[in-house]
Amino acid sequence: MADSIDPKFFRQVMSQVPTCVTVVTAMVDDAPQAMVIGSFVSISIDPPLAGFFCTTASETWQKLRRADALGVNVLSATQIDVSNACMRAPDERLGDLDWEIADGAPRISGTSAWLTLTIDQVSVAGDHEFALCNVETMEAADPTVEALAFYGGAYRTFAPADSQ
Ligand SMILES: Cc1cc2nc3c(=O)[nH]c(=O)nc-3n(C[C@H](O)[C@H](O)[C@H](O)COP(=O)(O)O)c2cc1C
Repeated sequence: MADSIDPKFFRQVMSQVPTCVTVVTAMVDDAPQAMVIGSFVSISIDPPLAGFFCTTASETWQKLRRADALGVNVLSATQIDVSNACMRAPDERLGDLDWEIADGAPRISGTSAWLTLTIDQVSVAGDHEFALCNVETMEAADPTVEALAFYGGAYRTFAPADSQ
């Protein structure tokens, strides 16, 4: 059955599943690394665990997985340009952005939330790998700083539902 699902159709259907937009960062061999990740997810409160999936084709992931600390920059609704910047060639991603090292990883200013993680386990998940991570530190911006979403192949921002 699984063999009958066409990759294009898989992408089309999954584009109807909204995701967050984060930039996962690390310092590796004294160089900042950054990768846009929409699969970031909360997993467990006790112990505090979160995780994400990375394609095995990613060179950046091969660097991130060696880092002592990972940063998760949860982009805010006004940060589409930051996501676009982090889709440039790997060594051009953070260059002109406003960031600093915080808790051992690059922290981009203006995000809606910030976490640092350490990798607990990496497991194979088809053409991706799943990084199960310990949450080491976490911080949310003021609730008026709304998050950015990705849905239907495009960036989206949130509006209250009609029934509210
Ligand atoms: C909104 C958005 C979400 C993404 N989410 C993921 C993800 O969860 N996992 C992944 O492997 N790539 C994801 N990507 C794609 C990677 O950021 C991109 O392919 C990256 O360039 C691959 O790694 P590289 O640094 O080796 O080029 C996403 C891209 C966008 C624009």
